Amino acid sequence: MATPKIVPADAAGIARAAERLRGGAPVAFPTETVYGLGACASDPAAVENLYSLKGRPPENPLIAHVADPAMAAMIAAPDDRAMSLMEVFWPGPLTLVLPLRDGAAVCAPARAGLETVALRCPSHPVATALLGECGFAVAAPSANLSGRLSPTTPMHVAAGLPDADIWVLAGGKAAVGLESTIVDLSGEEAVLLRPGSVTAEDLEAVIGPLQRASAPGAAPKAPGQLSAHYAPRTPLRLNATDAAPGEALLAFGPLFGDSGAAAMLNLSDGGDLAQAAANLFAMLHELDGGGYEAIAVMPIPEEGIGAAINDRLRRAAASSA
Ligand code: TXA
Ligand code: MG
Repeated sequence: MATPKIVPADAAGIARAAERLRGGAPVAFPTETVYGLGACASDPAAVENLYSLKGRPPENPLIAHVADPAMAAMIAAPDDRAMSLMEVFWPGPLTLVLPLRDGAAVCAPARAGLETVALRCPSHPVATALLGECGFAVAAPSANLSGRLSPTTPMHVAAGLPDADIWVLAGGKAAVGLESTIVDLSGEEAVLLRPGSVTAEDLEAVIGPLQRASAPGAAPKAPGQLSAHYAPRTPLRLNATDAAPGEALLAFGPLFGDSGAAAMLNLSDGGDLAQAAANLFAMLHELDGGGYEAIAVMPIPEEGIGAAINDRLRRAAASSA
């Protein structure tokens, strides 16, 4: 039976992974946000295989990962706003949705047939080396079954796709831990499609006012921005101030007294939001496997990357309920 193969991300491993991608095979690789499951973006059969490995609906487009802004400019037509954002935030956890260039090397299935394309230049050194070695854009959704938690370690990838015949380049624990911020620049107004560690305020400091598509009640514009997503199997109880017996507690910041929880993990003892983001999916993965009645999650401040943490928690709670 096929199983994922975890491969060291040394120069030889990266070179062979690039060869596999060139030949149409899928390769999971680390980024600073979460692990991606990559395929050559111009190869429709390789890209369609990603949708089938993930059980992903074909109308939910993928992000094309590029080595640098020059590769991005071959695929899309960046305007001044896009150029400024690339300059400030690339390489890094920011995805830009831009109008597609004619004849660009990102096939229709990767874009779910849209005339726009989502582009991201990751900063993880293994991703940088892999994309440089490839010389072509790599379409990569997060390396998990559709609707499940995103993977932040090679083991999460292997455990989440146990029957997939894929290579997983091992690049340690993802430092950011939440999927990239997505901003849509294909229209006149810039729209925040998915909050992430590059915050709305960070973006507005560079390009001015942003529309927030993921504000409660807003209609989803990105096909994948439906509210049910990022689902653990155990129900989540948000903004908990205590835990009932049988519940696991996902804490944030200092605890006063005994929580009474059946198990407890702390996203950040010191109340650091970046650390909490980096730990979020790994700790949800771990508590989700424990067979608890529910996971009670303490309140997370809605500031900075806290907004993105709360976005993922609300989606997870909506789909696990
Ligand atoms: O951090 C990340 O972005 C990770 C790593 C691997 O780079 N990738 C990731 O991919 O989170 P995925 O497939 O799980 O999420 C991609 C999101 C989806 O919500 C999809 O709808 C949106 O990007 N998207 C892709 N192309 C789009 C487009 N042309 N217009 C609007 N949204 C798009
Ligand atoms: Mg995903």
